[in-house]
Amino acid sequence: MIVWTVANQKGGVGKTTTTIALAGILAEQGHKVLLVDTDPHASLSYYFGIESEDLELSVYDLFTQVSSREQILQTLCPTHYSNIDILPATMSLATLDRSLGAKGGMGLVLKKAVQKVADSYDYVLMDCPPVLGVLMVNALAAADRIVIPVQTEFLALKGLDRMVKTLEIMQGEQTAPFKYTIVPTMFDKRTKASILAFKKLQEVYTNKMWPGVVPIDTNLRNASLARKVPSDYAANSRGTIAYKSLLNYLVKQNVKSSEVES
Ligand SMILES: Nc1ncnc2c1ncn2[C@@H]1O[C@H](COP(=O)(O)OP(=O)(O)O)[C@@H](O)[C@H]1O
Ligand SMILES: [Mg+2]
Repeated sequence: MIVWTVANQKGGVGKTTTTIALAGILAEQGHKVLLVDTDPHASLSYYFGIESEDLELSVYDLFTQVSSREQILQTLCPTHYSNIDILPATMSLATLDRSLGAKGGMGLVLKKAVQKVADSYDYVLMDCPPVLGVLMVNALAAADRIVIPVQTEFLALKGLDRMVKTLEIMQGEQTAPFKYTIVPTMFDKRTKASILAFKKLQEVYTNKMWPGVVPIDTNLRNASLARKVPSDYAANSRGTIAYKSLLNYLVKQNVKSSEVES
């Protein structure tokens, strides 16, 4: 089981879209995928038609009690894609930081939870809220690799600096170094701003960058309205092709890093 966490402290940069696009392609390739929605806005859950307010159990419950494998299996929801299940979010997640307060030892809740269902899934993809709190910390700590989508515009680059600093601060508590890949999104080759932002990214983050870009593609937005994964909604669209190439790259990185470790 491989865990990828999609994170950035800035909203609207393509985190949820990236999570869904990668999940859709992995599922199509025959992999079993577990999605974990850690955003109280529950966009990912909503994408799959899950009305989070109707749920009896959600990611929230993983934090209030130590869950057994059976309880975790009860918490997850199937989706209309047979290879994709989801641990859904609810609004109550927004209260988690306050209710847990200074309670220590809560940083590995998600990591331990997904490990209990590891033999049922090939990939776990975690979607993050744009807020650094217990949920993002948990999602980062569970990750084999962090995928950081960044919109190709200057304001978003500042957000990226903040995200990378967060990883450096969190690094202190980790045994292995965080592995992360920066993914330029919503690239518009017709605008100077996009091109300049992309150049700047390559300059500053050279070896942390996926060499490609996800272009602006309205199919990605329309796929979400149709509640379909992009590779199902528009298999040959520019967005899907870009995400396929990103997936190949991430899989290769994975092989490389396991070679280094062994
Ligand atoms: N490459 C893209 N081209 C066009 N629209 C996109 C693209 N990526 C994301 N979007 C749209 O931008 C909005 C924000 O994306 P989303 O994935 O929800 O961001 P986040 O999860 O970081 O807040 C959504 O409406 C989504 O459909
Ligand atoms: Mg989102």
